[in-house]
Amino acid sequence: MTGELSPIDKAKFVAARRAADFVEDGMRVGLGTGSTAAWLVRCLGEMVREDGLKFKGVPTSTRTAELARDVGIEVISLDEARWLDLTIDGADEFDADLNLIKGGGGALLQEKIVATASDRMVVIADIGKQVEHLGAYPLPVEVIPFGWQTTQALIEETLISMDVLGRDTTLRMNGDAPYVTDEGNYILDLHLKRIGNPRQLALVLNQMPGVVENGLFIDICDTVVLGFGDGRVELRDINEGTIEHDRLDFVESENLFTDLSD
Ligand code: 5RP
Repeated sequence: MTGELSPIDKAKFVAARRAADFVEDGMRVGLGTGSTAAWLVRCLGEMVREDGLKFKGVPTSTRTAELARDVGIEVISLDEARWLDLTIDGADEFDADLNLIKGGGGALLQEKIVATASDRMVVIADIGKQVEHLGAYPLPVEVIPFGWQTTQALIEETLISMDVLGRDTTLRMNGDAPYVTDEGNYILDLHLKRIGNPRQLALVLNQMPGVVENGLFIDICDTVVLGFGDGRVELRDINEGTIEHDRLDFVESENLFTDLSD
């Protein structure tokens, strides 16, 4: 079964499986969105069903909510939880300070609200997400549909004075129609190539009236759990300044490798 997984999928799986061990009985846990987070949800579902783990999950998208319920996790809303012990999510990029680009899966708004309402945010990733400078991955910005082209023009104008290498922006599409987020908004992808000052850019973008939120997560992530295709896992904690190593056995959880869909 594991032979069918690509090295990247194995890396995502071991990162997710290792991060699932952070979840303890009684916790309220934010559940991220994306293919790596889907592994996490499957792992946690197995721990609920087979080990009797008891926790409440707050999903960051309708698709994560659906998967979480499917695998047996008790799902509550953020308003019911109010504050979370932990959020575990994927990322599109992370740098040495554990600042992130997120939103490739279109869920950045709920992801940022949930992560910010958590005592700890753990990112699960494969090595392809590690960068020296954020920005090679297009930065998603969630915008209100009303006047989105005006907002786009305002963003492009503003980017002229920002420390970035590219300034192209594109409306994210879903077939022939704009992609619509869970909150009913659109996403503009900013092709910046390199972001010199992510903190400044995040603040400037969020000043614009049509912008709801941007995909830069600054000082939000505490720990990155980095998975490798051979089962190795590296845990980097920005607060403790520590790097730990671990190794996981694929065989234990091979029943998880069936029917996985993001
Ligand atoms: C969704 C996200 C995802 O965490 C990000 O896109 C990474 O996805 P994947 O784990 O599939 O690589 O931010 O909005």
